[in-house]
Amino acid sequence: MGLTLAGASKVAKNDNLLLITDGENLQKCNEYLSDSEFSALASSKKKGATQFALPQANRTIFVQSIKESDCAIRQKEVMRKEGNELLDLFKYSKIDNVHVINLAKENFAFELLEGMVLGNYQFLKYFKNTEPKKNLLKKIKVHSSALNKKELDRLKIITDATCAARTLVNEPLSYLTAERLSEEFKTLSKEAGIKVEVYKKKKITSLKMGGLLSVNKGSVDPPTFTIMEYKPAKAKNKKPIVLVGKGVVYDTGGLSLKPTSNSMDFMKSDMAGAAIAACSIYAIARAKLPIHVISLIPATDNRPGGNAYVPGDVITTYSGTNVEVLNTDAEGRMILADALHFAKKLKPELVIDFATLTGSAARAVGSLGIVYMGNADKETKSKLETSGYSMHERLVEFPLWEEYGEMLKSDIADIKNVGGPYAGAITAGKFLQHFTDYPWLHLDVAGPSYVHTADSYRGKNGTGVGVRLIFDFISNY
Ligand code: BES
Ligand code: ZN
Ligand code: ZN
Repeated sequence: MGLTLAGASKVAKNDNLLLITDGENLQKCNEYLSDSEFSALASSKKKGATQFALPQANRTIFVQSIKESDCAIRQKEVMRKEGNELLDLFKYSKIDNVHVINLAKENFAFELLEGMVLGNYQFLKYFKNTEPKKNLLKKIKVHSSALNKKELDRLKIITDATCAARTLVNEPLSYLTAERLSEEFKTLSKEAGIKVEVYKKKKITSLKMGGLLSVNKGSVDPPTFTIMEYKPAKAKNKKPIVLVGKGVVYDTGGLSLKPTSNSMDFMKSDMAGAAIAACSIYAIARAKLPIHVISLIPATDNRPGGNAYVPGDVITTYSGTNVEVLNTDAEGRMILADALHFAKKLKPELVIDFATLTGSAARAVGSLGIVYMGNADKETKSKLETSGYSMHERLVEFPLWEEYGEMLKSDIADIKNVGGPYAGAITAGKFLQHFTDYPWLHLDVAGPSYVHTADSYRGKNGTGVGVRLIFDFISNY
């Protein structure tokens, strides 16, 4: 990313400073400011400003004042956004380093830095001349008053993992084929000490993973099935938590072709679920959280090639269930069916799948929320929702009532891959449920994983949504 985060306890003379203050501790800024600078600061604060830049001879002093809110969760999100906004001040001041010091009573440095680091993300790989486009900010020193070593490590890990997920989502199919994606997972695994195995087409064929193979039929690139396992010596859970991610590296819709420009143009992002499953286990392993986690990622592109599966086909999936395919664009559930069946063998305590599964979920909540459903217990759901609020990756639960399952009845096979015209996100979830026999949650991230206009520290394009959520959930598990 080109941005380093380093702990520091001493302030060098020429360090640009970012002082985090609140109303009560404004006085403490005095140490770094002349009297006239301090009164300028005090008067603009009175007018309601929260951010200041004061150029001095050899450095610039930035001040972030905390606007107090009675809701800690809302306050944290305000701080992330302010962290992102500080980047503009840094840009105008043409600085490449800043030293962050906390002077406030309540410490919000973590969230402020989180917003700053995530907001500074760029994906410049495909510009011939990247230099003029690169953000100037290169180094953030974090004073011990702001974060201790452990917090700083956690910050590095979750921002690295979120940015890694963004990059995977932003990579186009011209680079990121299913095989390439599995190579990226190997690289992440190596770095974090995760055991990884990639099944190639031959093995997938011998296992008879019919869901994954059928979606892959129209493609010239082979599918992959990646298994990542992090098993710490003293794991708190006896049975693993399994994360499953939809890895459709490109979704044309297959023969049920999508129209271009309004829906196909960003379908390189249809592997965002895979990015969540891989990048969150990466973060969990790097942080050495005491939880046994396994990630499963079926991957392929979905294309209308010569031998593509067709509407009307009946496919025998890995579980033996026969699926009547009535829309080849409902491919995510076909490949997830095999992965969810595979998960049974692992005797999991909980399975969570992530998928850009339906336009229906995106239409229901837009990019602001994750639609989720499942049969895990109330306590698990409530813990996940709590993580959602505190990470500002909020979840909304949809029902999985039995009657929705009836919409998937097929005339000629065990189940069909599309429901009716309504409740598309739910019938998709109902389809997935068919392949589970364990506590399970399904997160449809079709809305929030890719945004078309810049949204504060989430940026533009791949957002990496889900990674911070799952890291927090597992941290509190
Ligand atoms: N990848 C799409 C869902 C999607 C839509 C993701 C918008 C991100 C943004 C998925 O494979 C799909 O095409 N789903 C269909 C299912 C339908 C054919 C039953 C949909 O939602 O229209
Ligand atoms: Zn599709
Ligand atoms: Zn898809």
